[in-house]
Amino acid sequence: MRLCVTGVAGQLARALADCAKPGCAKSGGDLAVILAGRPDCNLTEKASMRRVIEAARPDIIVNAAAFTAVDKAETEAEAAHAVNAEGAGHVAAIARNLGLPLIHLSTDYVFDGLKTTPYLESDETNPQSVYGASKREGERRVLTEQPDAVILRTAWVFSHEGKNFLRTMLRLSETHETVRVVSDQFGSPTYAPDLAEACLAIAQRMVAGGVSGGVRHLTGSGDTSWAGFASAIFDFAQRHGRPAIAVTPIATVDYPTPAQRPRNSRLDCSLALTDFGVRLPHWADGTVRCLDRIFATAS
Ligand SMILES: NC(=O)c1ccc[n+]([C@@H]2O[C@H](COP(=O)([O-])OP(=O)(O)OC[C@H]3O[C@@H](n4cnc5c(N)ncnc54)[C@H](OP(=O)(O)O)[C@@H]3O)[C@@H](O)[C@H]2O)c1
Repeated sequence: MRLCVTGVAGQLARALADCAKPGCAKSGGDLAVILAGRPDCNLTEKASMRRVIEAARPDIIVNAAAFTAVDKAETEAEAAHAVNAEGAGHVAAIARNLGLPLIHLSTDYVFDGLKTTPYLESDETNPQSVYGASKREGERRVLTEQPDAVILRTAWVFSHEGKNFLRTMLRLSETHETVRVVSDQFGSPTYAPDLAEACLAIAQRMVAGGVSGGVRHLTGSGDTSWAGFASAIFDFAQRHGRPAIAVTPIATVDYPTPAQRPRNSRLDCSLALTDFGVRLPHWADGTVRCLDRIFATAS
């Protein structure tokens, strides 16, 4: 199977590319991942993007690229819309024109977070940030252009590389003995390699045919708060000889950010299990494996 994945340096894109490396059990020997990123493949430039995707001769496209700077999007709404809404629509139109299946990534930020139980795919969206609104519009455009596309909403993605909460906590632990972390937002941390593996399984099914398009939720299993995630990171890092770091739980109101985050980011992922047979490992398990990988490289 040949996958063309948008975004070269993105967490998910890199995790997908890792799956195709020689020796990786996931590749099964016949997996090729072609990363398509800037400057050759910019989501805002449809014609050149089509050329790059077509040249890759993929069996399926995964649109993992996005304007993901959530706070910056508040003041750069046009740029966020150009990538997350218009760009996503371009990718879907290209997929339709080339007759290719498409997996598009979306986010928990399409919800307002006021529900008290995990969100279902059928729940009403109500984004509270520019980023969330741009991603919701992207979902709409993708399904308009390519109704057979599968949209995977994920959340709280982390990896051993890239910009993410886990790496921020590790960096802070080098200079702080105590870290203040928000404890009243809840979600499911999602390890990028686990997400990538599930994407591949879904891609296989789509390429084989018979998959119905639409939205599915896909995050790490279990849930926690940002403070709970931070505590786990510091606890597990201690096993690698890192010093003990105390987490001071704080409320969202005490950590104001330009973009509003959903208080409840938990997504019910049962539909992905029913439809595709995929369930991601527990977030804490992913955290242990991620830290093992980081510290193995460091030593
Ligand atoms: N990270 C999370 O916590 C999270 C949560 C929920 C949903 N998601 C969604 O999951 C998907 C994957 O996220 P991620 O964490 O892997 O993202 P990421 O690490 O932030 O990477 C985003 C990638 O998009 C690329 N990109 C941005 N603008 C582009 C453009 N105009 N043309 C081409 N490429 C562009 C970036 O390229 P450069 O390297 O050139 O900047 C980068 O490689 C995204 O759709 C995101 O919205 C992520």
